Amino acid sequence: MSDLLITGARLADGTTGDLGVREGVFVDPADLGGDAERLDAEGLLALPGLVDLHTHLREPGREDAETVATGTRAAARGGYTAVFAMANTDPVTDTAESAAYVAHLGRRDGDCEVVPVGAVSRGLAGEELAELGLMAEHAGVTVFSDDGRCVHDPLLMRRALTYLKPYDAVLAQHAQDPRLAGPGACCHESQIQGVLGLPGWPSVAESAIIARDVMLAEYCGARYHACHVSTAESVDVLRWAKKRGVQVTAEVTPHHLLLQTEEVAGYDTTYKVNPPLRTREHVDAVREALADGTIDAVATDHAPHAQQDKDHPFDVALPGMIGLEQSLAVVMEVMVNSGRMDWPTLVKRMSATPAEIGRLRHQGRPIAVGEPANLVLVDPDARAVVDAAASASKARNNPYGGRELPDPVVATVWAGRRTYQR
Ligand code: NCD
Ligand code: ZN
Repeated sequence: MSDLLITGARLADGTTGDLGVREGVFVDPADLGGDAERLDAEGLLALPGLVDLHTHLREPGREDAETVATGTRAAARGGYTAVFAMANTDPVTDTAESAAYVAHLGRRDGDCEVVPVGAVSRGLAGEELAELGLMAEHAGVTVFSDDGRCVHDPLLMRRALTYLKPYDAVLAQHAQDPRLAGPGACCHESQIQGVLGLPGWPSVAESAIIARDVMLAEYCGARYHACHVSTAESVDVLRWAKKRGVQVTAEVTPHHLLLQTEEVAGYDTTYKVNPPLRTREHVDAVREALADGTIDAVATDHAPHAQQDKDHPFDVALPGMIGLEQSLAVVMEVMVNSGRMDWPTLVKRMSATPAEIGRLRHQGRPIAVGEPANLVLVDPDARAVVDAAASASKARNNPYGGRELPDPVVATVWAGRRTYQR
């Protein structure tokens, strides 16, 4: 790997200068050899590489929908240098061996770091605990989740939290009470849902689970993370729990920051997602919560699906939408360009804090001499209409296709290697 000289970049704090990269680390540009490759970053912003706590890479098992190679290529195009790969693959990542295998696929095929998430329950069945200790000790797993399914049994949740505490691991919950929002639920319970005649998914199915869980997390003294928070009531619960000192963190997706229930009015299954797109009051609440830190991080919930799994009536199509490539664009549009958030806060929500939650010590670090060379070069002014067909992902369930959005990512560098350049 040759040396790299990045010239004229501006950092999130407003300072401008040249950056040297040698053997995966930022160095003083004066220490580079004369044959260093050059990357002109005049007028561009250099941010630490983004970290995604919630990515579905589908490998092993559904390589027709996505692979580690294609998913991480999409991640690099979106400015990400690390993604946490969710456990709902086939087979499920519920043993140390299967977690080690996902990490191996990442090292072999990845255009960014791939960190395996371990399942909480065996086979995601919600009945007995998976090999939590073995995954933590032998595969370095720090985030455990049955995502796609809710850990519904309070006793299983209690045992998982108790078990994970000594490992300093975090339990990431897909909060959806299956008794209140069952398998058919697919549209936010609201007036529009009644008109459309789709099975309802009430917001309380999320907030009631988070309320129970934060009490259990407090009781067990363990770390708890709420995935894809989508409702105003969930935000209220989180605010209360944080004030009480519970070790709770939360994420919001780009789609829940930008899109509303109305999108499903045409029954386009691209917009079918779990939890469902919500109404204005909820969207406003999660935006405010991300700005004030009640919601700690943005996570994509990149959920690629093969077309044949989306080509069904709305209530039976698979839920999920992709998001790695447009995540930064959406957060810029909704949070930065609207004046809700500054660049240093965006860096916290999309890089430093997700790395901290996942205990990834070499990601989410500042851009400074001696630090790992993970960065994304951003053009803050470029805009473009999103072309869903141009995605690096195998999947085409892109909810942003045809929308005009910022087009920020110019180049991504992961561990000193250029993983994307426009
Ligand atoms: C995700 C998937 O497809 O795996 N789907 C979704 O609608 N979000 C699972 C999940 O993140 O809950
Ligand atoms: Zn989920």
